[in-house]
Amino acid sequence: MDKSQIDAYLTENKKRFLDELIELLKIPSISADSKYKDDVKKAAEYVKQKLELAGIDKAELCETAGHPIVYGEKMVGDSAPTILVYGHYDVQPPDPLELWNSPPFEPVIKDEKIYARGACDDKGQMYMHIKAFETMVSTSNLPCNVKFMIEGEEEVGSDNLGIFVKQNKEKLAADVILISDTSIISNDQPSITIGLRGLSYLEVELTGPNRDLHSGVYGGAVANPINTLCGMIASLKDENNRITIPGFYDKVRNFTAEERNEINKAPFDLENYKRDLEIGNVDGETGYTTLERIGIRPTFDVNGIWGGYTGEGAKTVLPAKAFAKISMRLVPDQNSEEITELFIKHMESITPATMTIKIKKHHGGEPNITPTNSFAYESASKAFKEAWGKKPIPTLEGGSIPIVALFKEELGLDAILLGFGLNSDAIHSPNENYGLFNFYKGIETITLFHKHFAG
Ligand code: BES
Ligand code: MN
Ligand code: MN
Repeated sequence: MDKSQIDAYLTENKKRFLDELIELLKIPSISADSKYKDDVKKAAEYVKQKLELAGIDKAELCETAGHPIVYGEKMVGDSAPTILVYGHYDVQPPDPLELWNSPPFEPVIKDEKIYARGACDDKGQMYMHIKAFETMVSTSNLPCNVKFMIEGEEEVGSDNLGIFVKQNKEKLAADVILISDTSIISNDQPSITIGLRGLSYLEVELTGPNRDLHSGVYGGAVANPINTLCGMIASLKDENNRITIPGFYDKVRNFTAEERNEINKAPFDLENYKRDLEIGNVDGETGYTTLERIGIRPTFDVNGIWGGYTGEGAKTVLPAKAFAKISMRLVPDQNSEEITELFIKHMESITPATMTIKIKKHHGGEPNITPTNSFAYESASKAFKEAWGKKPIPTLEGGSIPIVALFKEELGLDAILLGFGLNSDAIHSPNENYGLFNFYKGIETITLFHKHFAG
């Protein structure tokens, strides 16, 4: 691979690369909201077209029961290794809209950052792979076979991708999976994510009386489902912030003192962290540092809770129902189905006679840890060192990409999480953004990964 040709091509095409990303960011491909189904499709078609223009041999839209998967490949030879690139073109809903400084689907560039929903997660990061690919093809520097699998349902649990992977094992055969959908510590300290948490997501509906009641006529004599639900939820953590669901910790891996020491070596400034979030203190399981709480310990969180009257003014009502959306982040060697069942069983057991409970399962996913002693990890480490001038640190992140564990199970492949986001990018939040430096540096780093992985 001729690095100077790559660098020259990247410089010459800088502006166009960004303009193309801006066009992609204008498409509101919100996978969770069926109103946007056509836009999701439009984003898929855009990705497919850009792969074709970048020099892919074969690109197709694979229909699923949900949103389509974009698949493409270019083979350079049987003796070359094969890289399977995974990313997602769908985005999270942008609300609350009033907190955005500019509309989420009208990208703006300010202070060397691009602001839009999906700027980092994951359109910006996924698009870097298409541009790295274009650069290598256009300069005759493509050293590996490349397969692209870009899905439109990551933000809603990747159920259909799971089916697609199981049905297309041969088509997807590769030597490594390469994903840019995570973060680095900072632009001064690159890192490679080796840990992702799993997820169990459920929705609880608690019903008391058969109808909403006057809170004076019945209040004090009939149990209020919102009060009861709050009490049940509060009982799920003890005074040490340990989750009280029986069996919850049975399979949680105990990391050795040495491993924990490694985790805590990563640069982390607690005072900065608190200042950034404007919180008086952090919180979590007793006996663990913040990095450990995020990286190797499970969570229980209410993501939304509602019921009763929430409109303007006051209405005296004893509501018939209360609802909550609940997520649990999981760590090795917990299993999402097992944890889901333990949660349901426990919630049913603590439901008082005054109430009936219904629990709906949403998506789940398994935790994953990528080994650092592989050739692929070594290639990623070298790519960072060459492009960023510093050796990357392995980190365990708290987020989830459920398909990573599934790739391992179904295809037997480890994923290299070559992410370039920053915690300040505000993914899933208002004013999501992505640094132009990260976008361009990331493209360069990806080409270097291909170079090192080619051997
Ligand atoms: N890219 C994120 C996951 C992520 C972000 C991992 C930052 C590590 C660091 C991904 O798009 C995401 O948001 N995943 C969801 C899970 C999914 C099942 C909805 C998550 O983690 O909440
Ligand atoms: Mn993502
Ligand atoms: Mn996301």
